[in-house]
Amino acid sequence: MIKINTKIIKIETNNIDREKIREAGQAIRDGKIVAFPTETVYGLGADALNEYAIRKIFLAKNRPLYDPLIVHISCLDEIFGLVKEVPAIAIDLAHNFWPGPLTMVLKKSSKISSMVTAGLETVAIRVPSHLVALALIQESKRPIVAPSANLFAHVSPTDANHVIDDLKGKVDIIIDSGRTSVGLESTVIDVTELPLKVLRLGGITIENIKRVTSEITIGNKKDNTIKSPGMMKKHYSPKAFLILSEGRNNTMVSNILSIAKKYKKMGNKVGIIATGENSDKYVGYTVGVIGNANDLEICAQNLYSQMRLLDKQNCDIIITENFQEKGIGSAIMDRLRRAAN
Ligand code: TXA
Ligand code: MG
Repeated sequence: MIKINTKIIKIETNNIDREKIREAGQAIRDGKIVAFPTETVYGLGADALNEYAIRKIFLAKNRPLYDPLIVHISCLDEIFGLVKEVPAIAIDLAHNFWPGPLTMVLKKSSKISSMVTAGLETVAIRVPSHLVALALIQESKRPIVAPSANLFAHVSPTDANHVIDDLKGKVDIIIDSGRTSVGLESTVIDVTELPLKVLRLGGITIENIKRVTSEITIGNKKDNTIKSPGMMKKHYSPKAFLILSEGRNNTMVSNILSIAKKYKKMGNKVGIIATGENSDKYVGYTVGVIGNANDLEICAQNLYSQMRLLDKQNCDIIITENFQEKGIGSAIMDRLRRAAN
């Protein structure tokens, strides 16, 4: 693929430079592609109403066209016109979780191109809470489609440097606002019919959604698998081979150590993703500490960056601890299972 000049623009989240946002907003209107921070992960944005610009996103990421995109808007009002109808439950969820890491799948209107939805009759929409993302959407005066700003199937970027590593020379602008706060992607829910269906676990926990509605199922009722189109079994992967330890119990550390020893003997460089409590137990290995086991939000925030760091240190294998499947821990385990598949 040809290389293009990528302009990197630093924008402070708490002191947004209007001039810089204006430049990025104009770029979106001009059909350019702009990587920008959201509270979950960085996105690669384009004008959602411009097929030519949308095509560039798929090319830059090397993303297959059957994987639909999320449309980002700056407030609930902007949803009307993009969808055929907004069910009452969607309004309820929006009032509770927008702006924030919740994506709702609704019936699309004719304004939304099938390139956005991969030919589906539904469209995924969310209002991010990151101030730079909101400013960009408002300034561009467009809904913005944005997949995570990584190469296809790679780990999502939680820092502008991750975007630079994957996409420099392939996109027009990368906005650098430092690290993202949630660290995992948004929760995706199909709200076109009841019960609501969770298609991807993420930043808004199921426990919190259940406080708003009990009419919700996780994934496929029959086999209990989560299936969002384009959500491959193998996904969110570091370059290293990833092994997820089974269960979080007294034998977890010794199990990890024995697997690590075996692979080290074969000549592999072994990295370990560890919680703070256990980090000093893996002597002789490259350890990535992601937070204390009970601080699941912190673990989520650091997970992807530690995967990328262990890759940078040329680990051949990454072995990761297991996490409690509650709150955002469920999303952490979902991503680890996919990365390990
Ligand atoms: O947090 C996030 O959601 C980030 C930031 C940038 O907003 N975006 C993100 O986008 O993770 P992406 O493209 O990496 O993941 C989008 C997910 C995919 O699993 C896709 O299958 C699902 O949303 N999706 C999109 N449109 C859909 C639709 N019409 N029906 C069902 N799932 C859909
Ligand atoms: Mg992605």
